[in-house]
Amino acid sequence: MVSDFFGPDHCHIIDADFSSHPFDAANFLLKLLRDAGHEDGLVVDIGCGSGVLAEVITQAGYSVLGIDISASMIDLARHRVPRAVFRCESVMETCLPTAVAVSATGEALNFVGGLHADRAAILGLLTRIAASLLPGGIFLCDVTLPGILGSTHVKHRWHEREGRAMYVGSHEDIISEMLSRQIATWRQVDGALWRRSDERHLLRLYPLDWLAESVASMGLSVSILDDYPHQDSAREPMQGRAVLTGISSRAGAALLKIGNQRCGARRLRTSRSACDGSRPYVATRESAAASG
Ligand SMILES: C[S@@+](CC[C@H](N)C(=O)[O-])C[C@H]1O[C@@H](n2cnc3c(N)ncnc32)[C@H](O)[C@@H]1O
Repeated sequence: MVSDFFGPDHCHIIDADFSSHPFDAANFLLKLLRDAGHEDGLVVDIGCGSGVLAEVITQAGYSVLGIDISASMIDLARHRVPRAVFRCESVMETCLPTAVAVSATGEALNFVGGLHADRAAILGLLTRIAASLLPGGIFLCDVTLPGILGSTHVKHRWHEREGRAMYVGSHEDIISEMLSRQIATWRQVDGALWRRSDERHLLRLYPLDWLAESVASMGLSVSILDDYPHQDSAREPMQGRAVLTGISSRAGAALLKIGNQRCGARRLRTSRSACDGSRPYVATRESAAASG
């Protein structure tokens, strides 16, 4: 039977085996915050998951409000970061307080759009995010893009570790721009019996230009990366996704500085074109290999 959304066993596996991306996202956000001159303040983490980003940001001296619709994720987050505040609710139904940064990592915007919202509703959310940012504040998200599964539009993936395993069958509907994932997890409970749980996730896919233009039209300078900067060479690169940063003009110079740094195997070559919200956004990315 297909059970709940981000239930306990799925959350356990995500937390145990897939925490390197939010960890890298957190360190990237910290760098953006410091370069923009924000030494403290509130960071709002939308779709905060098990609190990996919240832990890094809190340890660095910021306050964190994490918002997530999954009770299992919120339980893990509260356990991991007792000093942060977590709300178990949909971001579509909650107020966003004024903040130095808002993050929505780990495809959070795709999930929000899949559950609740068409593009117009996501525009409403982006407007609320932009309005909640202090001058020089930072918006950071990563999103899965249309075409992620290539020409077959289908992918099967198996993951296993001691005492746990997960199958993910993904299918992209290119007409509706939706990605569905059938997820089965097996977890050994009490050291003996295996428990199976099933979930179905729906993600709304956003064309990168549409998202970047939307964020830029809200007065934020937009920059795009292929992945978060990271040190771990064994870490699986993000594929079919993009990291988008929106920042007010006061911090634009800092963002450009970061933009000149290498990002894993990739290099950022964008920013100026989107700094002026009145002009159309043009994404310009290239790989380090291509650019030498
Ligand atoms: C893949 S997880 C990402 C967790 C974490 N941000 C990370 O980077 O690893 C996506 C999260 O978004 C949450 N989510 C989905 N729809 C949401 C909504 N409408 N409001 C708040 N959280 C939501 C899910 O419960 C899930 O924890």
